[in-house]
Amino acid sequence: MIQQITILGGHGKDSTPEPVARIDLSMGQVISIVGPTGSGKTTFINDIELFANGDTPTGRRILIDGKTPPAQYREDPSLNPIALITQHTNFLSDLPVGEFLRTHAGIRTNDGGMVSSLMEKTLDFANQLTGEPVIASIRMTELSGGQTRALLIADATIICNTPIVLLDEVENAGIHRTRALELLRQYKKIFVFVTHDPRIALLSDARIVMQNGCVTQFIETDAAERLFAGAVTRIDDTLTKLRERIRMGGRMTMEDVREHAAFTAMEAKA
Ligand SMILES: Nc1ncnc2c1ncn2[C@@H]1O[C@H](COP(=O)(O)OP(=O)(O)O)[C@@H](O)[C@H]1O
Ligand SMILES: [Mg+2]
Repeated sequence: MIQQITILGGHGKDSTPEPVARIDLSMGQVISIVGPTGSGKTTFINDIELFANGDTPTGRRILIDGKTPPAQYREDPSLNPIALITQHTNFLSDLPVGEFLRTHAGIRTNDGGMVSSLMEKTLDFANQLTGEPVIASIRMTELSGGQTRALLIADATIICNTPIVLLDEVENAGIHRTRALELLRQYKKIFVFVTHDPRIALLSDARIVMQNGCVTQFIETDAAERLFAGAVTRIDDTLTKLRERIRMGGRMTMEDVREHAAFTAMEAKA
């Protein structure tokens, strides 16, 4: 069982050495990657997925449990401990979702009952991540971006059960992000998210800050940031409710005003 993954720094776009020379990520951690567009976030997670060994444009090296990963990881997909969910995943398969999941689960186990239970769990998980229902009979090619992403995250987490899951910018994809984080925390894995959502960053255990192709900081989330994330999440929930209510022709009431004021007062004291 993998316990730790290490990223040894390389160099930035201008060949200067990476300021953060070593990052160790442990099982159970949720890590965000933040930074402006073009700063190298996708490149960073690709390095992890490729088990870079000084052989990518960044010069980074990846160690698993302190050692160079064995060649089988690259050669045999069933041994590869990493699942990467990219921004541009297209399915070649035109199978219905249920068949896709059954085939996939069948690789892991011969037990029919187990296959059914894995399928059910995966669909249930996917449906908690997205508001657009994913059902077994839909064809893979007919899924929306959000449904696709939700299904892939669920598949990687439950059926493939890889210890390391990398996610490139899940935003704008119709995924309940904070819910996803809560759910994923129940599984002991290393999750690495590229994100522009400050809440996701603050709800993570730590964040990797990128600039000009380099990791410039590794910031562990502290108690104040955690508190702040909670408060901001409530603001966001309030806004979501507001948006939905107004859109559906509803009104806000004095009760809503009081509820909001009470929250704000409580937070100021906390
Ligand atoms: N350390 C690096 N050295 C050289 N080129 C890099 C480095 N990091 C990123 N790049 C290049 O910079 C460009 C933008 O990187 P990318 O990872 O797509 O950024 P982001 O995902 O943050 O928008 C890509 O062409 C990538 O190959
Ligand atoms: Mg990118």
